[in-house]
Amino acid sequence: MRRIVTFASIGTVLTLAALFALLRSIPAASAQADSASNADQIRRGEYLAHSVAMCVVCHSPKDEHGQPILSQQFEGGVIPAKATYPKMATWASHAPALGPLAGGTGEDVVTLLMTGIVPRTGKPPRGPMPPFRLSDEDARAVVAYLQSLGS
Ligand code: HEC
Repeated sequence: MRRIVTFASIGTVLTLAALFALLRSIPAASAQADSASNADQIRRGEYLAHSVAMCVVCHSPKDEHGQPILSQQFEGGVIPAKATYPKMATWASHAPALGPLAGGTGEDVVTLLMTGIVPRTGKPPRGPMPPFRLSDEDARAVVAYLQSLGS
């Protein structure tokens, strides 16, 4: 009987040790998963900003061919066109640098990209900034990408 108890308690200790090891490994594993999903999010944001929503085209200085200068991407750009409608007064001649706007929590830019409204003013930006309706996930990916550039 005594022997059985001893075996049983060894079993319990081993089980607890295994459980302890497992629990210790969980934070490390989820930290790895976090950084992997953060890298995925940034890649998605880059894809959206360069290939889908084309933020880079308007928000960067352009070379003599009108192509965005990638070494200065998102530092702000001149809009090389005027509104087609004479009475459309709300057309901007310049798209601002995005680094400072996406800084901090970036929540205002997330809201802008999801609703088309600038929270600071309660209004849409002037044209030709498109009135985006990105999903929450995509808006956050674009902001995470802009923040990852550290500009
Ligand atoms: C067709 C050109 C164009 C594209 C594409 C574009 N923007 Fe803009 N954006 C502008 C212009 C012009 C302004 C300035 C509007 C103003 O001055 O009212 C602006 C303003 C902004 C602002 C500042 C809003 C504020 O006043 O706080 C942010 C942030 C912004 N854009 C982010 C983006 C992001 C992110 C993308 C891509 C998802 C993007 N823009 C795509 C032209 C563009």
